[in-house]
Amino acid sequence: MIIPTYNERENLGLIVGRLHAALPRTHVLVVDDGSPDGTGDVADALASSDDAGRIHVMHRTEKNGLGAAYIAGFHWGLDRDYTVLVEMDADGSHAPEQLHRLLDQVDAGADLVLGSRYVPGGTVVNWPKHREWLSRGGNIYSRLALGVKIKDITGGYRAYRREVLEKLDLAAVESHGYCFQVDLAWRAIQEGFDVREVPITFTEREIGESKMSGGIVREALLKVTQWGLRNRIAKIKGVAAG
Ligand code: GDD
Ligand code: MN
Repeated sequence: MIIPTYNERENLGLIVGRLHAALPRTHVLVVDDGSPDGTGDVADALASSDDAGRIHVMHRTEKNGLGAAYIAGFHWGLDRDYTVLVEMDADGSHAPEQLHRLLDQVDAGADLVLGSRYVPGGTVVNWPKHREWLSRGGNIYSRLALGVKIKDITGGYRAYRREVLEKLDLAAVESHGYCFQVDLAWRAIQEGFDVREVPITFTEREIGESKMSGGIVREALLKVTQWGLRNRIAKIKGVAAG
């Protein structure tokens, strides 16, 4: 399980505690981007007090975006013998108590399982209306631009079978912000992997602040549009070439 953190000092212990209460054998890698609030120190303290040695910490020197943090975390996991790598936010929005839903689908044969707010059974709790519409709008736009059926391609609670990450060209991933999520799901779909959604409950954080920004939204809009156009052009060329 990889948990990226930027200023999540008060959230980190809570979420790791919930995770280990739900699934005690799960290993955790915290990827902290030098949080000014001392989240990195909190992570180190959690790691050293865990006698079972389940908690690991990667300290990065600057805030470099969610995408870069996850890619560094994936390499760490792939260098070890983990068979499934999970993404989860640190702020309590993703319930560790629902992780089994994702892992059960991996066991059932899926390559990539997306925790989904927008399939039947999925819900969003306490999100301001404007955030929910931004998320729903982003998902509708991604479905149209990319021609995929996924209902929640922007979400950040997901489980990858290691073979998916080994196959994808992670060095080619340029997404910095949250469009990283769309980027990886889109690459997995294009590679023909079995990508499935399971319902989750997304609960807005109670502590700290979202790192969502105008720049993150603009990057996502631009990139999704580019990927969609590139895909269409490639298809047209394919038809023309017969
Ligand atoms: N290391 C690192 N570096 N972590 C980061 C960075 C960064 O630059 N930016 C954000 N994070 C961490 C946060 O500390 C948190 O653990 C997680 O990434 C999610 O960040 P939030 O800022 O809480 O995201 P959100 O609630 O606004 O966005 C949610 O919706 C997005 C769109 O659907 C999340 O589910 C995202 O994963 C999702 O893409
Ligand atoms: Mn959040």
